[in-house]
Amino acid sequence: MLIDLDEVKKTGFVDTEVDPSLDLENEIQRLKKEKNAVLLAHYYQENEIQDIADYIGDSLGLAQEAQKTEADIILFAGVHFMAETAKILNPNKKVLIPDLKAGCSLADSCPPEAFALFKAKHPDHIVISYINCTADIKALTDIICTSSNAVRIVESLPKDQPIIFAPDKNLGAYINKKTGRNMLLWNGACMVHEIFSLEKITKLKVHHPEAKIIAHPECEGPILDIADFIGSTTALLNYTATDSAKEYIVVTETGILHQMQKKSPHKTFIPAPPNNNCACNDCPHMKLNTLEKIYLALKYEQPEIDVPEPVRSQALKPLLRMLELSK
Ligand code: 13P
Ligand code: SF4
Repeated sequence: MLIDLDEVKKTGFVDTEVDPSLDLENEIQRLKKEKNAVLLAHYYQENEIQDIADYIGDSLGLAQEAQKTEADIILFAGVHFMAETAKILNPNKKVLIPDLKAGCSLADSCPPEAFALFKAKHPDHIVISYINCTADIKALTDIICTSSNAVRIVESLPKDQPIIFAPDKNLGAYINKKTGRNMLLWNGACMVHEIFSLEKITKLKVHHPEAKIIAHPECEGPILDIADFIGSTTALLNYTATDSAKEYIVVTETGILHQMQKKSPHKTFIPAPPNNNCACNDCPHMKLNTLEKIYLALKYEQPEIDVPEPVRSQALKPLLRMLELSK
C-alpha cells in the first residue's frame, strides 16, 4: 500500500485499518527484527508500550541510547522533541515517531523568533536550554541539559558567568536555588507539572503521614518546597527502589508508576492529584502514542522526523556538549 505523505502530516499518523485479529506485540517484535529497528520509550508512555520497548528511560538516557544505537531505524515512543533529538544525533538513520502531533507544551512555550530577540538583548550570557525544546531553540543554545544533569552542567560554568536558562522557569528557579546562581529565566512551563495542587497533596499527606513526597523539578516552587526528594524520572525511580519508605506520593506524570511498581512490588505509589477533577496527571501528548500507531509506523516507516540543515548541525553542538559533560 502506498502512503499519502500529505495525509500522514495532516492526521499525524498512518491512518489505516489494522486487522483486529493481529497480535500487535508479536508483529512489532517481528518488524523490529526484520528492519533492524530499535524501539526507545519514555517512562510516560502507556504500560503496554513500556513493556515492549528495547529501552525505557528519561530524556538523558534516551538521548544517550540514541547516540550509541547501531539500528537502522529508531522508533521513538515519546514526544516530538525527543525524536528530533535522536535525528539530530543520527542524520543518516531513519527516525520514526508513532504520532507527529505528540508535541510538548514546554517546547511550544519558547518560539524561536521571540527567543532569538531575547538572546540578542543579553549578548554576554551563555544559553543553557532544557532538552524539552525544539531543534530551532537548540540551534540557538550553547549547552543542552536535562533534569538529570542540569545542576552539574550549570556548575561546570564559572560562578560569575551570566546565563540564560530556557524554556522551563520552574526547573530554572530550582537550579538557581540549588546552585545560588541568578540565571535569567525564560517564562515557559510544562502543562502537566504546573497543575499539581498543593492543597490536595497536603491533604493526601494528612491521610498518608508515612508517605514520602517525591517530585519532578518541572513542578512549581511551593510543591518542591514540601518534597522529600526531587529528581528526574530516572532519579525518582531509583530513589523509590533504594529508599526505605513503604509509601510515596508521586508528583509527576503517572506513566512512571509502572516501573516503580515493577521495581518495588511491595511498596505503595500514590499519584499526586492535579488542580482539576482528575485523580492523577497524564501528559496528553505522550498518551497520543498507541501500540497500533507503533505497529503502523514500523510497517510503513512513517511518520518520519526530518531536521533540515543547517539547523541540525547547529543543534548538534550543544547536544554533544551535554553528552560529553554527562559521561
Ligand atoms: P525527564 O524524563 O528527563 O525526567 O523529563 C520529564 C519530562 O517531562 C519529559 O517530557
Ligand atoms: Fe512536555 Fe510536560 Fe508532556 Fe513532558 S510532560 S512532554 S514536558 S508537556
